[in-house]
Amino acid sequence: MLKHMIEHLDIFVCPACGGDLQIADDEIKCLKCLNCYQVEDEVPLLFWPHENGIVQKKDVTNMVKKFYEKTPFPNYEEFENVGGLIQKAQTGIFARLLNEQVPFNIRVLEVGCGTGQLSNFLGVAHRIVFGTDMCLNSLKLGQEFKKRNGLERVGFYQMNLFRPIFREESFPLVICNGVLHHTSAPFSGFQSISRLVKKGGYILIGLYNRYGRITTDIRRSIFKISSDRFKFLDSRLRDKNIGELKKLTWFMDQYKNPHESGHTIREVLGWFEQIGFDFVNGIPKLKAFETFSENERLFKSNPEGNWLDHFLVQTHLLFTGSKEGGFFLMIGRKKL
Ligand SMILES: C[S@@+](CC[C@H](N)C(=O)[O-])C[C@H]1O[C@@H](n2cnc3c(N)ncnc32)[C@H](O)[C@@H]1O
Repeated sequence: MLKHMIEHLDIFVCPACGGDLQIADDEIKCLKCLNCYQVEDEVPLLFWPHENGIVQKKDVTNMVKKFYEKTPFPNYEEFENVGGLIQKAQTGIFARLLNEQVPFNIRVLEVGCGTGQLSNFLGVAHRIVFGTDMCLNSLKLGQEFKKRNGLERVGFYQMNLFRPIFREESFPLVICNGVLHHTSAPFSGFQSISRLVKKGGYILIGLYNRYGRITTDIRRSIFKISSDRFKFLDSRLRDKNIGELKKLTWFMDQYKNPHESGHTIREVLGWFEQIGFDFVNGIPKLKAFETFSENERLFKSNPEGNWLDHFLVQTHLLFTGSKEGGFFLMIGRKKL
């Protein structure tokens, strides 16, 4: 038990005080503040609330945590084994490109991994993956899959992204997909996780786009006033190839989430600039009329476009992005 954590103990810190951690008899203890952390189903419970250990009732983290404990996302249904996971991931261009282009034998951190499909997928090949989320039920599903399929290089950890459990600059790649827009302070969340990236390393951020999200917002209002009739307006919910559990998970995540925010390309470029990252690539591409190719080199620098490009790209997202929930993704490289 805790083999993964023991092997990489040098990069872990106490989420409460930043002190060194020690593992003895499957209990995790901070050598500085002497806090002890339990382990459940082989998942270290290293979640620490924002305000010095006090959980506030109206705290967004607390609300969102409760929501995802009930509705783990994205959940497992159609595939039970590694073969199925690979097959599924390969159909999405992004996961396939990541798998082809992220080097082997490096440490990869996924923040807000949910049920851990991407972490497990990246760990099939030789990478040391740390899947973290604040929702224990999601992590347990990821852990179960990992265990059943012998994915020794993947470890799942309960963590609040505002209270990281890793030393600064521990990772050449940090992935945070679809998470920050469910927090009360996306920019400070970004600041928090960007500290974990090594100089010259990459961060990959996926967020709801303010404009791309408009169609989803309209559907949410229609569902609300019609007591969830007209679900067929969402193409995933009328897709016969998607199972019922997946549909429910998608419906809850998209339309019943207690907290979400929308963001723009300019805003994230501003985050990069402020924290010391260079823009590298985006999905969609930030230059109007440039397309993201099947063989895109994810980590190769691209132009960041101007306001007109961003206007056109985001307007395009408004009409095309609704299937993916109006999502955009940006990759940045930490300055040396
Ligand atoms: C929409 S899911 C995304 C899951 C996964 N990244 C994916 O793309 O399928 C959002 C996840 O963010 C996690 N999350 C939200 N706020 C968080 C926080 N403060 N710390 C850690 N995880 C958080 C939730 O528990 C949830 O599992």
